Amino acid sequence: MNSKKYLIANWKMNKTVEESVTFTRELLKNSKLYKNEVIICPTFLSLDAMRETCLKNGIKLGAQNCHFEVQGAFTGEISAEMLRSLGVEYVILGHSERRNYFGESDEIINKKVKAALESGLKVILCIGETWEQRNNGQKLDVLNNQLKFGLKDLNSEMLKKIIIAYEPVWAIGTGKIVTEKEISDVSHNIEKFISAEFKTNFKCSFIYGGSVDVSNVEKFLSLSCVDGVLIGGASLNADKFMNIINISENLNKI
Ligand code: PGA
Repeated sequence: MNSKKYLIANWKMNKTVEESVTFTRELLKNSKLYKNEVIICPTFLSLDAMRETCLKNGIKLGAQNCHFEVQGAFTGEISAEMLRSLGVEYVILGHSERRNYFGESDEIINKKVKAALESGLKVILCIGETWEQRNNGQKLDVLNNQLKFGLKDLNSEMLKKIIIAYEPVWAIGTGKIVTEKEISDVSHNIEKFISAEFKTNFKCSFIYGGSVDVSNVEKFLSLSCVDGVLIGGASLNADKFMNIINISENLNKI
């Protein structure tokens, strides 16, 4: 396996600025440059404090959200431009927690995707079905819809800046995981969708998220269709995250 894998830490609403900085120091204790793309997405508040150390050591920074306008009267919001000016390279959009708790529709997510790309950010676009949708046989329709509307108005060039993260909602933070076959099927379905919708053979980067941890990450990363993982809970502990990085680096040697 030679291709570079994405290891993306989604810290959600965890860690104070001080805790984020301490984590970064812990992680870089045995500092080395990684072959894989290690990306940490802390809260907005910690981005600036982590910036210098992370970037110096080849670790990329990502944000967990952004607004679709560049600036203006949008109390409490942060624009893609502002993130970019802080050295942020990636932004997670369409996470199921944003969809469910903050009412983000595919239309809003699409506006954010476009704004992020215009600002020069790369987008980690999350899609995923709920347990109920899955049991009703709606999984592929739900995923295709999230893609269709999330990627609306984009051209095939823009797809190069998109990483599609398949995160079944029922697998997030629950310890439940999907089978390898299911992940491959979803990846294949996305390829088919992109080729039909965008008339291109370009294959978007595809990553998996949902209860990824030290014990199962190798299984996911070994799948040829999987370009990386999005890690929530297990990325909050520096030792565990380090272990996950090491597992991925060793796979890369093969
Ligand atoms: P989890 O979260 O790894 O804790 O399941 C993943 C995510 O929500 O991105």
